[in-house]
Amino acid sequence: MKIIHVVGARPQFVKYAPVALALSRMKKEMNIDLKNRVVHSGQHYDRNMSDVFFEGLAIPAPDYHLDVGSGAHGEQTAEIIRGAERVFAREKPDVVVVYGDTNTTLGGALAAVKMHIPVAHVEAGLRSYNKRMPEEVNRILTDRVSTLLFCSCKNAITVLRSEGRVRCLSGGNLMPRTGLARKDLGCDIDHPLAINVGDVMRDVFEMTRAEATTTSSVLSHLSLEPRGYILLTIHRAENTNQVDVFRRIIRFVRRVVDGKRVIFPMHPRTKGILKKAKVGLPDFIQVIEPVPYLDMVALVSNAVMVMTDSGGLQKEAYWAKVPCVTLRNETEWVETVRSGWNTLFENFKGSWSCQKNRPEYYGDGQAAGRMARILLSFTPNGAQHG
Ligand code: UD1
Repeated sequence: MKIIHVVGARPQFVKYAPVALALSRMKKEMNIDLKNRVVHSGQHYDRNMSDVFFEGLAIPAPDYHLDVGSGAHGEQTAEIIRGAERVFAREKPDVVVVYGDTNTTLGGALAAVKMHIPVAHVEAGLRSYNKRMPEEVNRILTDRVSTLLFCSCKNAITVLRSEGRVRCLSGGNLMPRTGLARKDLGCDIDHPLAINVGDVMRDVFEMTRAEATTTSSVLSHLSLEPRGYILLTIHRAENTNQVDVFRRIIRFVRRVVDGKRVIFPMHPRTKGILKKAKVGLPDFIQVIEPVPYLDMVALVSNAVMVMTDSGGLQKEAYWAKVPCVTLRNETEWVETVRSGWNTLFENFKGSWSCQKNRPEYYGDGQAAGRMARILLSFTPNGAQHG
């Protein structure tokens, strides 16, 4: 059997890492003839946005590079579709796996579905209900053309069920690790299957945390004390495209920091826009280059607070028991807000009411294993291998 994974933006490398590991383990254990291929769209191309993640997470190098680079949404997505289609025509995969909500996700999914190749969407069912976000459009469309909808949490299943005819396993609860019958997994493009497998980002976060504590030198390199700094990231188009919006966020950060140091690993998009608009940052904010995953885990785990517009970082803060302010008007990760560990910046009153026993909304750190098991039993037309 052949699986193709389409990745291209930084968070997708992180999400793919535990899936690659789980697939290669199961391939050996079950002696399956699996051909696993990776297509890198080239949406992210700077070394510190791409290569360092492959190296740091020990992901085998991509089999194909589409080299699409940056561009307007239409142009970038079209280039990804064009490149992915050629690869799929040559490789004839049984299933294509796409991750998250970027233009790479949508491009890979559209190319596959038009060629009647089943699409598996990792992180399906998330919604911000803000269609002005490019990511929201990408995830809605990707979900609509997917056959396998791998969900990170129960809420995502509820969303998908409310939107149309989707069958779900185990009542939307975390999929049991054993005891599923072959008939349970039957699905095709007209009968999609939504499965709560848990969150692959939790898998990789848990896998990396101990190593981050012992190996990462980012804290000493920046002379940071644990709990002595706030971690800040801002990269979303809606927060960076208009300088006024960005300035408003910085004013908010200034009000909240209370003399603490702020560390800001800056995404190249933000850097480029600030440079062009000649916007400076106040002295208490220390801008650093984007960091490898291991260092990010160390930074988030030791921060006193996280302020971010990133989706992944909201959950990483939750897992690390670090309170978070989300620099957006809405979040897809509503559970983190419900439990009191995260708050939208407009609602922030200066403190959190964090639930001490954080519910495990996002699985048990074994999401990739569940996904691998389902993927390996999957062939087109809804039939499954034994
Ligand atoms: C993309 C995703 C976003 C995700 C983010 C993760 C879309 C629509 N958005 O946003 O959902 O949260 O990735 O990081 O797919 N650039 C570089 N070097 C790079 C990559 C980008 O300089 O390696 C600069 C370019 O100026 C580029 C800009 O960043 O135009 C934006 O890059 P792009 O991939 O379009 O979107 P992101 O903001 O990274």
